[in-house]
Amino acid sequence: MVRCNVSELREGMVLAEDVLTAGGRFLMPKGTTLDHGHLKSLQAWNLSAVSVAAAATPLAPGARDDGAVAAGEAAEIVVRERLCRLDCEHEAGRVLWRLALERETRHRLAGDAVSPGQGESGPHRPGDDTVGRPEELPPPLSSPEALLRDEPKLVSPPEVYLRINDVLRDPISTVEDAAESIRHDPSLAAKLLRLVNSSFYARTLRAVRGRFPAKVDSLSRAVMVVGGRQLATLALGVSVLPLFQDIPPHWVNMRVFWEHSVGCAAAAQAIAGACSRGNPETAFVAGLLHDIGRIIVFKQASTHMAAAMRQAAAAREPLYKAERDLLGFDHAALGGHLLRKWQFPANLEKMVRYHHDLGEPLFIDEPAVIHLADCVATAMGWGASGNRHAPPLDPAAWEALGLTGEELTRLVPVMEARLAETMHSFFPDRDGRP
Ligand SMILES: [Fe+2]
Ligand SMILES: [Fe+2]
Repeated sequence: MVRCNVSELREGMVLAEDVLTAGGRFLMPKGTTLDHGHLKSLQAWNLSAVSVAAAATPLAPGARDDGAVAAGEAAEIVVRERLCRLDCEHEAGRVLWRLALERETRHRLAGDAVSPGQGESGPHRPGDDTVGRPEELPPPLSSPEALLRDEPKLVSPPEVYLRINDVLRDPISTVEDAAESIRHDPSLAAKLLRLVNSSFYARTLRAVRGRFPAKVDSLSRAVMVVGGRQLATLALGVSVLPLFQDIPPHWVNMRVFWEHSVGCAAAAQAIAGACSRGNPETAFVAGLLHDIGRIIVFKQASTHMAAAMRQAAAAREPLYKAERDLLGFDHAALGGHLLRKWQFPANLEKMVRYHHDLGEPLFIDEPAVIHLADCVATAMGWGASGNRHAPPLDPAAWEALGLTGEELTRLVPVMEARLAETMHSFFPDRDGRP
């Protein structure tokens, strides 16, 4: 890694650290390969120098870069294994293969031995544990309810959640009611303001004020930018996150788990917006919570889960299939059950419940958003929730959404920037506590 003056930067160089403005605003994530637009933007923000990967310095014409070749080869081995269940002949599979390979290569060139999303491929491999050998397995569990009964803190959601949900369910509630219900929880309000201040809403902010945005520093202004009901929906999802933060570390690193969830949320928000399928904020929350069932399974059915992870790794199959074999249901059904119990909006529950099983063809549009978002997040290596392999993409989901390969290519960098921003402001602790 070397420090380089902004005036000396060239296209093709790779950022070795996140870039922040002088005021601390997040600008670009580590791993970005600089293009003309990035260089203009860095100059516009009057930054003096940034850190770039030493190996990314352009070579003289005709010179062979052995480091880049080695990085490309190592990246290909990792990506080939991760995407072994994805149909790379399919339009979406081809795009994801190319983008995942480029990202993995960039991270290796930037000096990361293992990219941030590679928790499952690191020194500890979930499922390699010797606990819970198949011969010791109890029979499949009777139902999701049985697991939830053993988790007392999940009997009911937090107080602030109940207040916000009342507002959402009341057809005559006002936007001020939504802001008022969030105001009771200062930590939740601060997280929401950070979300609304992210670049995702920058265009809306400009439209609202007619100039480059200043900071949104109050919930009333946040309601103006996002909308009352949309802000309340975001608040519902964010308010329950603190209940899910204590997976035993030998299963999966909590920060890596949330990186996968936030990656899926960012992808779902972008896909819902691009395809006009439902509300982008609802999609964001569904993405954020799509794998929470797995947290409960890790804690309450660890013997079954150890065996499921071994089975999935040995057969190179998606973990949700092994869960169905060994538990009798998968984490998506369990998560959907919990959200129904807590009376989350029905469409949000459906998106979580059916993200691995799209259900009736007539009703797949919204679950298809999370299905594709999960595929993108896993294929790109954005965190991990226990899977070693990206789940196969259901062609019916791709058809239902009507995206093209070019659109997906354009959306993935937007999703990745949103992921980096949200992780930066939302989970600042390295241990990944929300
Ligand atoms: Fe899942
Ligand atoms: Fe997932």
